[in-house]
Amino acid sequence: MTTHNRGSTAVASKRLARAVLGAVCLIAAGLHGATAADLPQYDNYVHQGVASCASGVCHGSATERSSTNVLQNEYVTWTRLDGHANAYRTLLTEESQRIARNLGLPNAHEAGICLDCHADNVPVERRGPDFQISDGVGCEACHGGAENWLSSHTAPGTRHQDNLDRGLYPTSNVEARAQLCLSCHLGTEDKFATHRIMGAGHPRLAFELSTFSALQPPHWAFDDDYDQRKGIVSEFDTWTRGLMVAARESIGLLQGPLLHGNGMFPEIALFDCHSCHQPMSNLDWQPTVLTEGLEPGAIRLNDANFVLLLPLAEVLARPLHDRLLERIRGLNQSAARSRDAVAAASRQLASVVDELESAISRGADREARQRILEGVLTRAARGDYRDYVAAEQAAMAMDVLLISIDRWEDYKDRMDAIFATVEDDEAYRPQTFAAAADRLRRAL
Ligand code: HEC
Ligand code: HEC
Ligand code: HEC
Ligand code: HEC
Repeated sequence: MTTHNRGSTAVASKRLARAVLGAVCLIAAGLHGATAADLPQYDNYVHQGVASCASGVCHGSATERSSTNVLQNEYVTWTRLDGHANAYRTLLTEESQRIARNLGLPNAHEAGICLDCHADNVPVERRGPDFQISDGVGCEACHGGAENWLSSHTAPGTRHQDNLDRGLYPTSNVEARAQLCLSCHLGTEDKFATHRIMGAGHPRLAFELSTFSALQPPHWAFDDDYDQRKGIVSEFDTWTRGLMVAARESIGLLQGPLLHGNGMFPEIALFDCHSCHQPMSNLDWQPTVLTEGLEPGAIRLNDANFVLLLPLAEVLARPLHDRLLERIRGLNQSAARSRDAVAAASRQLASVVDELESAISRGADREARQRILEGVLTRAARGDYRDYVAAEQAAMAMDVLLISIDRWEDYKDRMDAIFATVEDDEAYRPQTFAAAADRLRRAL
């Protein structure tokens, strides 16, 4: 698999991004209700193209400016530092051409299944004169078609809500943002990196909103002015609310057409990649709290988007914890039975996730955040996150939680050591991860 190099780049650049972010004052803001805006790809507006945002007096300034509310160098950040600007060019590489060949496609850069995630792939009738598919994941792939707000959004007196009313996608709303990112980084029923695409050579996908926002990197500043206009959501709340959306989206996928397609098996990319892909000489199978009841040799579902809800529930909604654990186990066990059992178990899990919502939306004070971190570390140290995908999510959680209690600087080295153990999924050893987590736990 081709994921390990990217993993190491990700972890390296993450340290830089975090150092900058850590210095920003993060304030928990009032919560905004989730909105049901259409994702930009399916909105009703003409997409004008990156060129219409990129002028030097608009968002293409070489440096940050202070004359308006926003930085104005967004285009430069995006084009120089943000992988999304490169997403279309990726489809021209030898790696992509090989994937396309394996899938029987003439090429990757004209294939809808690739463009849906690697570009702003709106239908031709919604492409304005300056629109270029080669812009990749451009401004309007996230901010929505600018047809009705491009000229008005800079007019004096225009409020954020006015722009939203005219079709700006609500990226400022954490739930809507998470849903947007996950539409490509997890996939949906309409666009999904299936195991057929993975088998042809596509890298594995993983996502966590807070970490990936830092990695992007941000072309916005969470300052006082931003807070007044949109309300800053803390790193902690971004993490928890992103997790909730990821859990719901994953549950949705487990009940939809991907469960039923694909011959003998449900869509294989719904499973934990490493439950099939690992060297046979790794004789380290053992049950965990989460997979209790599963036999050796069982193919496991990917439960990475659920497991971090447990330490959250333990602190924020204690009565729900045991039921949540039971439902996650139930889901894991259902995969050994039948598709109907998976659908039923995921519905049962969904109802506990719904119950968790109000506790999550209340946020958590510092003491509670510290206890959640201790909960994650205790579970990591005792081996609950043996599966690579769970360990990866747990490592990102620890990082966010250290930031959320202002201790990131103090434990940076221990955190680096933990990230090092999950840097390469093929070299991952559960014991090494558990030991590194235990060292942070004891140091805290
Ligand atoms: C339209 C699909 C799409 C959307 C929406 C999207 N991404 Fe991406 N993202 C991609 C693709 C495709 C790549 C890979 C780009 C490449 O290297 O070719 C990527 C890459 C990234 C990377 C770099 C990953 C790495 O390993 O270096 C980060 C970080 C990221 N996205 C974060 C986000 C965040 C945060 C959001 C939501 C605000 C988001 N993305 C929304 C498609 C999308
Ligand atoms: C469901 C959305 C989705 C689909 C469909 C999809 N990709 Fe991707 N692709 C991504 C994301 C997201 C990433 C970045 C993953 C990361 O780094 O976390 C990515 C990464 C890649 C990479 C690695 C890029 C790098 O910088 O290393 C290649 C190559 C690639 N995709 C090619 C393709 C091709 C070819 C197709 C069509 C057959 C395709 N993708 C379909 C979402 C998708
Ligand atoms: C992968 C998704 C993504 C892409 C691509 C993207 N943005 Fe953003 N943008 C965001 C997110 C997330 C935020 C922060 C939340 C918010 O305020 O909406 C943001 C915020 C902004 C802001 C508001 C800052 C503030 O202080 O209110 C501007 C302006 C902006 N982006 C411009 C651009 C421009 C111009 C481009 C293209 C060159 C672009 N964005 C591309 C996701 C994206
Ligand atoms: C149910 C078991 C199973 C699961 C789960 C699984 N795979 Fe596979 N994978 C296979 C099999 C079988 C092959 C075909 C191997 C062959 O042809 O030699 C394969 C092939 C591949 C290949 C191509 C390797 C080659 O020889 O070129 C890649 C890459 C891959 N899988 C990635 C993934 C990713 C990423 C995931 C998780 C999203 C995943 N797999 C989940 C069983 C699985």
